[in-house]
Amino acid sequence: MTEQTFPARVQRIEWAAEDILAVEFRRPDGAALPAFTPGAHIDLHLPGAMLRNYSLMSDSRDTHRYVVAVGLDANTRGGSKYIHHDLRVGQVIPISAPRNHFPLVEDAPHVVLIAGGIGITPMVCMARRLAAIGRPYEIYVAARNHQRAAFLEDLRALGGPVHTHFDSDHGGAPLAMAPIIASAPAGTHFYCCGPGPMLAAFETATAGLPDGFAHVEYFKAREQPASAAAPGAFTLTLAKSGKTIEVAANQTILEALLANGIEADYSCQDGVCGTCETKIVAGVADHRDSLLSKSERESNKTLMICVSRCAGDHLTIDL
Ligand code: FES
Repeated sequence: MTEQTFPARVQRIEWAAEDILAVEFRRPDGAALPAFTPGAHIDLHLPGAMLRNYSLMSDSRDTHRYVVAVGLDANTRGGSKYIHHDLRVGQVIPISAPRNHFPLVEDAPHVVLIAGGIGITPMVCMARRLAAIGRPYEIYVAARNHQRAAFLEDLRALGGPVHTHFDSDHGGAPLAMAPIIASAPAGTHFYCCGPGPMLAAFETATAGLPDGFAHVEYFKAREQPASAAAPGAFTLTLAKSGKTIEVAANQTILEALLANGIEADYSCQDGVCGTCETKIVAGVADHRDSLLSKSERESNKTLMICVSRCAGDHLTIDL
């Protein structure tokens, strides 16, 4: 792990909705934090070598605090459980500077934000920004029930339309995506963050849009299509050092680099955070991440070395 971190103090922990906490961080010395744009996330380095990514929801004009929201995940690997049960106000933990792989197009003629569950977090930040710069937007907030819907008051206070959908009021049925996409004005940019089934429905509903108008943020890895080829071994060349190493079929590029004592930046190891994005110098990538758009994949310029592989038998990367 070579990610740069700095200490941040837990300034405030607030109950936001059932199983959702808002956590505010500030620098212990009161200095300004690195600036960020809506859609950005930070890594929290929690005790026990747990590293978790959380989207920022605070006002991007405020550089003295970062606020994240954390949902208690029933299938937690420990991160959300630690934050809900053990993290204390006053505690200092290392965090990363913000990174943004879910940027907001600020001059779109109209923006539709669609949030499911804890996926509301980046949307609050985006709605704050759009309201601040006077751009037209509306937000759809979906939750399993009323008790689990967070930040509705904050969103309503911003003034833009807030549409809600509670599965419990509809016999458990999820928010229907197609009518939302169909009723939006031409040129609308759509953003969606939520659980896997919601993102899959969003991607299906927006499949007919031109590339670049539908934006998704996965907080867990996207399921690979059943047709994804089984991993094969390949040779990896590092352009800067000229070194060549073998990547075994059961190994990721990142694992092969680390096994050979070669440092690389990484964080989630799940293809969702973008920390390990690396330029391709030669060869064709077999993309398996949950970040790059269709056109970005086709451009074959970069790949996430924690999950993506080589489509042939030789890949050269900019390391
Ligand atoms: S380490 Fe997060 S995308 Fe690779």
